[in-house]
Amino acid sequence: MANKRIDEPTGIETVGHEWDGIEELNNPLPRWWVWTTYMTIIFSIGYMIVYPALPMLKSGTEGLWGWSSRGQLAEEMKAGAALRKEASDAIAATPLEALIKDEKLMPLAIAGGAAAFKQNCVQCHGSGAAGSEGYPNLKDEDWLWGGTITDIHTTLEHGIRASDYPQTRTSLMPSFGKDGILTPAQVSDTTAYVLSLSGKHPNDAAAQRGAASFAANCVACHGADGKGLRQFGAPNLTDAVWLYGGTPDKVSASIHKAHAGVMPGWSKKLDAVTIKMLAAYVYSLGGGEESAAAPTTPASGTGNAKP
Ligand code: HEC
Ligand code: HEC
Repeated sequence: MANKRIDEPTGIETVGHEWDGIEELNNPLPRWWVWTTYMTIIFSIGYMIVYPALPMLKSGTEGLWGWSSRGQLAEEMKAGAALRKEASDAIAATPLEALIKDEKLMPLAIAGGAAAFKQNCVQCHGSGAAGSEGYPNLKDEDWLWGGTITDIHTTLEHGIRASDYPQTRTSLMPSFGKDGILTPAQVSDTTAYVLSLSGKHPNDAAAQRGAASFAANCVACHGADGKGLRQFGAPNLTDAVWLYGGTPDKVSASIHKAHAGVMPGWSKKLDAVTIKMLAAYVYSLGGGEESAAAPTTPASGTGNAKP
């Protein structure tokens, strides 16, 4: 540039431009700045060599180190699966009674059971497990077949009246009216007696006639006090919980023709750990019972429950 000159006070050459008498000195760039620039250039060239960087026609350069975001995801998935396997192995190795007391494993089992419940059980027991007519509420303390973790586990493995499971829980209430065991008048009297057990019918002459019929026909399964016997899955008839409805019509219908509800067995469909986790989940819903010294139902599990 023509106007370049040496600036007198500093002794440094100017760049040659001038704006309204202001000139710029041609100072060299600071060394640290220049070196930083060189280093970032070297770094980015190195980066492009070792990592996938440059787009090509179909894919891109792969980089010397072979890293890819897909590969990283696959590795993280593998680590996750190993963690789950660890948990499920630990659950498989822990006896049922110990599992419910295990503060580390129980929450994992409940979470796994809740997921399996959504897939396999909600269509009958409802998404909140509160049941509906014919399908028992699994959240309350009213159990047909027992509420210890072992009882629940046995129910899940073999089902209830599940004909394809030889060890299924079973017992059939006769259809007293339909099969002519009781006359319609006797069914009506027995209904009055059953309702009187929960205070929904006065203890009148009909109920007293029904009491005799109950003693002759029903106590074997429902117990002398009507509170039910779990080894027969016979419900308590004295409380406010009704599987098939507690109105006179519905109770009468239950006596006329037995329902014989079927609960599928699961040991042929689900793996052992999933069934264990389901048992833990159902147990945790609020009605789980401590196992007494003498079990309320004969042990019929597959041995999973034993240490
Ligand atoms: C096809 C409908 C159906 C499905 C699916 C089903 N259940 Fe049941 N379940 C029933 C019926 C009906 C009963 C009551 C049987 C009876 O009368 O004893 C029952 C009873 C039970 C009981 C015993 C309750 C008690 O009071 O002793 C448990 C526990 C249970 N179910 C859990 C489950 C779980 C967990 C699943 C999912 C793996 C499941 N059920 C899936 C219909 C079903
Ligand atoms: C062989 C055993 C057995 C005998 C005997 C029996 N029951 Fe039942 N009963 C059951 C079972 C099991 C259930 C519930 C399961 C099912 O059928 O799904 C039941 C259910 C009922 C229910 C419905 C309860 C509810 O919660 O909705 C009533 C009511 C009832 N029984 C009354 C009677 C009366 C009354 C007699 C006698 C005339 C009688 N039962 C005899 C086993 C028996």
